[in-house]
Parts: sequence; C-alpha cells; structure tokens
Amino acid sequence: MPELTHQPTVSLSSAQIAFFRSNGFLSVPQLSNPAEIAMMREAYDDIFQRRAGREVGDQFDLAGTDEEGKEAALPQILGPEKYAPQLWDTIARINALHICRQLLGDDVQAQGSHAIFKPARHGATTPWHQDEAYWGPDFQYRSMSVWLPLQDVDEENGCMQFIPGTHKQEILPHQSIGNDPRIHGLELAPDAAIDVSHAVVCPLEAGGATFHPSRTLHFTAANESERPRRALIMMFGAPAIKRSDLGLPPRRFPWTEHKQTARAQRHEAGTKS
Ligand code: NI
Repeated sequence: MPELTHQPTVSLSSAQIAFFRSNGFLSVPQLSNPAEIAMMREAYDDIFQRRAGREVGDQFDLAGTDEEGKEAALPQILGPEKYAPQLWDTIARINALHICRQLLGDDVQAQGSHAIFKPARHGATTPWHQDEAYWGPDFQYRSMSVWLPLQDVDEENGCMQFIPGTHKQEILPHQSIGNDPRIHGLELAPDAAIDVSHAVVCPLEAGGATFHPSRTLHFTAANESERPRRALIMMFGAPAIKRSDLGLPPRRFPWTEHKQTARAQRHEAGTKS
C-alpha cells in the first residue's frame, strides 16, 4: 500500500477509549473536512457509475444473486482505491489509522477498504453480522473496520447500529443472506438468536465515522430516503496470528465453504486471463 502523507488531526480522549473497550464500538464526530469529503464523494460516485472492477469481480451485489443486467440491491466495490487512487491518501484515513493505533496498538497498519452503496429508496438491509465471519477461521485477528459515510446518515438512510458488548463474544453461526450460497453477503443464522433490543443507532454527519473490531455485531437498515447512501469502509489491523500458534482450538466457518457467487466466477476468469 502507498504511504500515507498527511498528519493526524484527531486524537481520542481516555473517556472515548474506555467507552470503546467496554462497548466494542465508537462513534467519532469528524475524521476529515468538507472539501475532502466532497472530493471523495465525487470519486466514489464515478467508480460506481462506470461499474469499475465489475469484470474482475471487485464490484458486485452484496445482497443479491448479481446476474448481469439485474439491478444490484447493495452494490459493493472491493479496493475502491485501485479504481480511484485519490481515495487512498486522505486525512480521513490517517486520522482513522491514528485512532486505531490508540485502540488496538502501535503495530496496526492500514489494510485497504471497500465501498458499500445503498441507492436511494431501494438500497437493501445489511443484516446483523460479525465481520470476522467473512475471514479465514484459522487465524486470530486484531482488526478494526472504520465506517465513513460521505453524506449525513441516520436510521432512515442506513447508518450503523451496534449491539454493545458483543465484541467479547465468539463468532456466532452465520449463513449466506437468505441461506442462498449465490449471495456474497452473510447474516446471522436463525439459531444464533440474538437480542437486538439494546442496539445503539449511530447517526453521523458526513466525514464522521464509527469504529468496530472484528466481532462486534452490527447492522444497517435499508435506505428508505430519497438520496443515495455512500459508505467507505476502511480496514486496519495487526498481522493475523495462526490460532494453532496461540494454542487456540481449531474452528470452522461452514458458511464460507459452500459459496457459489457470480462474483467469484468473474474473479476466477479475470485472474486466469
Ligand atoms: Ni460488517
């Protein structure tokens, strides 16, 4: 990854750090500035409009079966900075990195990002899940997802919601959305029966962000508003460690073993050619 050249302008207070440690998420009012957010919004809209990365499987529908010609319910781009390099070296990212180091340790590095777009009036729900459920089961992670909206967000257009304290849980059973292995996105399996009555809704102004580690349960509602909802998710982490090296028991994520997504087929075809 190219170097980040800005200086951080935001630091957490000890009260914010204590809140994160006990709740497993944190909302930070501002990581950037209006000019940078406007620049990022323009680049973001451009890569979705030109369907950047579609043919190699970097752009796909997170919540649908993703056939050619079908409108995506929840369009996602992996590594948007590959298609819009100006999204990489931002004040938002250096601030997020600085905060992640305060929360997880100085060995944390910026690891890339993805973009999840909810079109106006029909962007789908992102169901309750833990991010670690998408990853390899053989590793132990010290990682953070930083969710940066590029316009104001509230419950109506799909801001983040968290269940406090769930960062201390193991990975719960997941399945493909609707139990359809053609769909990339994951949701909690019905037998994971969780209590969402304590969910905390995190509205933000454009350029604010939420921080959550790999096991915190989170959700965003469908976009019921008249405006598109753009979110850039920046990833940060220390190198993952093999669980066997730490004496931890092996685990399996069966929900990742049976995927048959159109995205993976395009990715295969793209890497062979
Ligand atoms: Ni997530």
